[in-house]
Amino acid sequence: MTSVLFVCLGNICRSPTAEAVFRARAVGQDIRIDSAGTGAWHAGEGPDPRSRAEGERRGYSFAGQAARKVRVEDFNDFDYVLAMDASNLSDLREICPLEATAQVLLFLPNGADVPDPYYGGPNGFRDVVDLIEAASDHWLSKLAPKK
Ligand code: 4NP
Repeated sequence: MTSVLFVCLGNICRSPTAEAVFRARAVGQDIRIDSAGTGAWHAGEGPDPRSRAEGERRGYSFAGQAARKVRVEDFNDFDYVLAMDASNLSDLREICPLEATAQVLLFLPNGADVPDPYYGGPNGFRDVVDLIEAASDHWLSKLAPKK
């Protein structure tokens, strides 16, 4: 089984959206999916209502999601730890143990950031889902079992 952990700063906007989109698109594939934040300010909270509204409008479910901070064990528990932006990636690489087995990478295949929508308007939340949908298809084709 392949496992993927999506990581952003607060684990209430971008990475919960990535978790919801990826879970919907990975149905029938043997992939374990979770999300976490590099910060703990929102630990225990559900996804931001603005992210949730935009995701649910497109048919994604956020059921059961609660924010948590990245744990050092995550770097061995998951095959891929995928960062939403360069700052998340640098924070992750700082705490990733040297002997960890996970591949710690940026989520967007072109090396760009999924911009933090937290302090912006509704367009930011729409852009986040657009970017995540496209990148999810990229990752799913990469992770699909070779026939
Ligand atoms: P996220 O967005 O990293 O996509 O979950 C944020 C959520 C909360 C904060 C920043 C970004 N915050 O500063 O509380």
